[in-house]
Amino acid sequence: MALYSDKVMDHFRNPRNVGVIEDANGIGEVGNAKCGDIMKMYLKIENDVIEDVKFETFGCGSAIASSSMATEMIKGKPVSEAMQLTNKAVAEALDGLPDYKMHCSVLAEEAIKSALDDYEKRRQEEK
Ligand code: FES
Repeated sequence: MALYSDKVMDHFRNPRNVGVIEDANGIGEVGNAKCGDIMKMYLKIENDVIEDVKFETFGCGSAIASSSMATEMIKGKPVSEAMQLTNKAVAEALDGLPDYKMHCSVLAEEAIKSALDDYEKRRQEEK
């Protein structure tokens, strides 16, 4: 059996939503101290809906595939729904990841939560 699913390979080779959003109103950056991988997430949120999302990942193939899939899963969704996204759901959507690569999907969940936190913080400051 191949170590990585076709979906993982597809999202690794052709990652969706790579890049930077200049006028993002939620930005999150997380890293994993053990492997040294870093993920940065940019959100453009309007009326509590994620209008656009982009990411930059300096990391392994699974981290790139996880970020790509995670951005696809929250794009166009309300903030409340994006908050519920779990790394397990991302891994499932990729048709699974090897056990020792699960932490790569955790990074995607954390990056999105961190960007959503940043969005909330900015909103509070505006009030
Ligand atoms: Fe660390 Fe993949 S090996 S994020």
